[in-house]
Amino acid sequence: MSSVDMYMLYHGLMLPKETHSAESLKFAQEFTFKDDDVAVAVYPKSGTIWMQEILPLVLNGGDLTPIQSIPNWDRVPWLEERRLALVVDKLDSPRGLVTHFPYHLMPPSFHASKAKVIYVMRNPKDVMVSSYHFHRMAQFLETPATLDDFMEKFLEGKVLFGKWTDHMKSWRGSDLGDRIMHITYEEMVQDLPAALRRMSDFLGRNLSEEVIQKIAEHCSFETMKNNNMSNFSLVPKMYMNSDTSPFLRKGIVGDWKNHFSPKQLNRFTSVICKEMEGEIFSLPWSMDSSLTGAEGEKLEI
Ligand code: A3P
Repeated sequence: MSSVDMYMLYHGLMLPKETHSAESLKFAQEFTFKDDDVAVAVYPKSGTIWMQEILPLVLNGGDLTPIQSIPNWDRVPWLEERRLALVVDKLDSPRGLVTHFPYHLMPPSFHASKAKVIYVMRNPKDVMVSSYHFHRMAQFLETPATLDDFMEKFLEGKVLFGKWTDHMKSWRGSDLGDRIMHITYEEMVQDLPAALRRMSDFLGRNLSEEVIQKIAEHCSFETMKNNNMSNFSLVPKMYMNSDTSPFLRKGIVGDWKNHFSPKQLNRFTSVICKEMEGEIFSLPWSMDSSLTGAEGEKLEI
């Protein structure tokens, strides 16, 4: 299948036709947000399904029923995908949603509501690597020729949901005040209970330490890898071939070091740094272009 058959263009962004349609995008634009809804905004491959595991448990005080009985895509559906229209009436309040939309594509009702949003951001080098492997296993996405080739597409924004920098800048620059919380994938890997405490406070949940520890245990990489409601094993291999690369692949910080050549690192770093010129905020990771540069030390969000 050619890329023309695989993707549709929406406001300049490439979206897979398998999961998106003109109807689903219209449904998203007309979707009515409620004040107690919680949206997770996240660029693909930055921790979406992790948040689909975490959010219901933070909202319901640690009751494991949703993560044990509802597949992740129906439990915390994507705002822009076809499934939402089918499951929206079954969602318990407060509802959790995920979205890969940049801020400016959020529907009018989101802006009119008091719904809160958690923006999850991940080091773009690891996002690129994770996305490369995802494109190899997802049969509804164009298979990358080489890592080099994929990197160029990623830097140009010719991948799912466009350029990483555009997405991140749109949400970092949003005027949502205390309706938005920013967190990084790296913070979550480093200390998940601390990340959960921040989310609990932000969502006014006041979870006990016992509940925080319980949620952390059930949302660990290993537990999720064995949870059939979350590891995509329910999806036929003709759509997602886990023999090529599992969806829950490594779940670590810094896997880019196992993939990038010094030349690729230089190229990647210089493009990202150039696109950050003039921004008032800085990235929370070292964008050092040496392969030995410490990663994850500069976490100050
Ligand atoms: P890797 O490919 O680097 O392993 P998304 O859900 O946005 O598509 O992101 C997928 C990435 O999040 C994958 O990264 C996946 O392994 C990682 N991930 C999912 N659940 C995780 C968890 N509990 N702990 C750490 N990483 C997790």
